[in-house]
Formats: sequence, C-alpha cells, structure tokens
Amino acid sequence: MHRLWFGALALLFVGGTELRAETLIERGDYLVNSVMGCGNCHTPRDKGVQVMERHLSGGFQTFSEPWFVVKGANLTPDRDTGIGAWSDNDIKRALTHGARPNGTPLAEVMPSAFYKILTPRDLDAIVAYLRTVAPIRNEVQTPNYKSEPPPSDYPLAATNLTDKDLSDPKKRGLYLATLAHCMACHARTSAEQAADYKNTFGKGGRAFKGPWGETVAANITSHPTAGLGAWTDAELKRALVEGVSRDGRKLKPPMIDHVGYYKKWNDQDIGALMAWVRTIPPLP
Ligand code: HEC
Ligand code: HEC
Repeated sequence: MHRLWFGALALLFVGGTELRAETLIERGDYLVNSVMGCGNCHTPRDKGVQVMERHLSGGFQTFSEPWFVVKGANLTPDRDTGIGAWSDNDIKRALTHGARPNGTPLAEVMPSAFYKILTPRDLDAIVAYLRTVAPIRNEVQTPNYKSEPPPSDYPLAATNLTDKDLSDPKKRGLYLATLAHCMACHARTSAEQAADYKNTFGKGGRAFKGPWGETVAANITSHPTAGLGAWTDAELKRALVEGVSRDGRKLKPPMIDHVGYYKKWNDQDIGALMAWVRTIPPLP
C-alpha cells in the first residue's frame, strides 16, 4: 500500500514538471534562445554582454566575408525596422529558404541552409515565439552583397523528419546538430574557402580573428589524434557546456559564445548532440 502511494506521487511529480505538454511558444523560446542561439547574431551587446532589453533587435557583429558584409537583422515585431509586417510564411521562408519577402536572398551566414531541416511544428513554434518579443526600433545597416556566394546547401538538412522521428535519439542528434550548424564553422578550412561538407566535414581549420586574438575551428571528427576520437564523454560534455578543452584550456570566441547556449540545452538534447558528434567520420 505504502509503495503504491509513493509510486502515484512520483508519477504526479513527473507529470507536473517533465511531461506537461510544452506550449508552442515555450518550444519556440527554447529553440530560439537555447538550441539555435539566434541572439548570438541578432542581439546587440555592450562590452561583450548581450543587452537583453534589446533582445533580437539586431546583431552586434559585422560579418565580413569574401561574398558580403552584413549584420544580423532586427527580428522584433517593430513594423518599420523589424519583421512586424511579415506574414508567418514570410518568416518561415527566410528561415528555411534564406530569402526576404521580396525574394532577395539572405547572406548565407544566416544558417538557412541548415534550418531547412526544421519540422513544421518547430517552424510554427519559432514564429509563435518571435511574435511575443518586445518590438524595438533599430535600423540595421544595409547589407552589402559583393558577389554571388558559392552554393551552400547542407546535405543533411534535406533529411525529412517528423515529430515522431525526434524521439529517436540518433535522429534527434542529427536534427539538433543541424540546427546548431556546427558545420558552418567546422567544415571550413579557411576564411576564403566556403564550407565543404563532402571533403572537410568536421575537419576545421578556419581562423577567426578578433579582440581575443586568433582561434582556429577545431577538428571535431572522430580521428583519434587530430580529432575528438580519444576524448571521453565527460571531456566532450565539458567542452560543450563549460567551454573547457581537453587540456584544461578555456575556449575562446566564437566557440565560447555558443557554449553559452549549449549549457541551456536539456540533458537529453546534449546527450543526443554528443552521440551525433561521435558519428563524424575521422579526418586527419
Ligand atoms: C550565425 C549568425 C546567425 C544566426 C545564428 C541566425 N541568424 Fe538570422 N540572420 C543573420 C544575418 C547576418 C542576417 C542578415 C543577412 C543579410 O542581410 O543578407 C539574418 C537575417 C535573418 C532574417 C531576415 C530578416 C530581415 O529583415 O531581412 C530572419 C527572419 C532571421 N535572420 C531569423 C533568424 C532566426 C529566427 C534565427 C534563430 C532561429 C536566426 N536568424 C539565426 C545571421 C544569423
Ligand atoms: C561560429 C563558429 C563555430 C560554431 C557554430 C561551432 N564551433 Fe566549435 N569551435 C569553433 C572554434 C573557432 C573553436 C576553437 C576555439 C578555441 O580554440 O578557443 C571550436 C572548438 C570546438 C571544440 C573544442 C575542440 C578542442 O580541440 O578544444 C569542440 C568540441 C567543438 N568546437 C564542437 C562544436 C560543436 C559540436 C558544434 C555544434 C553544436 C560547434 N562546435 C559549433 C567554432 C565554432
């Protein structure tokens, strides 16, 4: 009798915290602010710290690539300078096809090539959440497109996943790693070179210069010496959620900025991401 009572309580507790159906807005909040880290490119900063009163009102950094010079757009519902006048489908098209309502393609630093994998429910969730953000007037500098970028299709984003697929840990890992667009950085061997998802998948090599000096995207393949092949799960998790490399070194930008998001992922999702990282074929 005692045991039965205890069991019923535990179930109730689980029902109250874990299993309560998440609302669409809550799911969108988690995607935008944890899994996909939109604010990393779309929120201003003051001395390196995101200004949350101006959340998603336009990025702090300028992306200067051989093909364009752009800044993260204002995603708040301000009608003139944000996306308040866009329809739900306009927002979804920007996310998955990288185009504005008038058809202008977005610079490929906006990870639309990866966001193609988004399930219909998650697209709805992102739109629902973006509608709840405070509208902020902020005119972001006009993009400067210098030349047509090379094709940037991310092959794995073509995987068609259903909501049911996402309860399979393998597919969930693939989905989350795609949304987190690890390969936008870890499949590029230099700043001049576009990502190569066939020959340099996970190999790294691209340098990032900034006030922190220079960092180079690491080899995150399962290669035993050049990559993460010999790392334990605990070491990999520490790098992803604490930003500490295997040798104890603190990781620097741009990786450390992402760690700020990964540490907000739930355990199931971090586990799925790590399982996926382990499947990246070794490259020297
Ligand atoms: C790696 C940086 C980066 C991330 C992460 C990112 N974006 Fe962007 N996004 C950009 C940049 C840069 C632009 C502007 C591109 C241009 O001007 O061609 C942009 C443009 C957009 C636009 C078009 C807005 C307009 O007015 O033209 C939308 C909508 C958008 N992003 C939504 C999102 C959402 C939602 C997320 C997260 C789910 C996100 N972005 C994540 C960099 C990023
Ligand atoms: C914006 C570019 C960028 C993105 C996106 C990115 N990384 Fe990184 N990553 C880097 C850079 C640069 C470094 C090296 C940082 C340093 O040396 O301080 C790094 C380092 C790492 C390390 C540490 C490796 C080592 O040898 O210390 C791991 C692990 C890692 N990244 C995994 C990932 C995973 C998994 C994802 C996606 C979930 C990801 N990264 C997304 C740029 C990026």
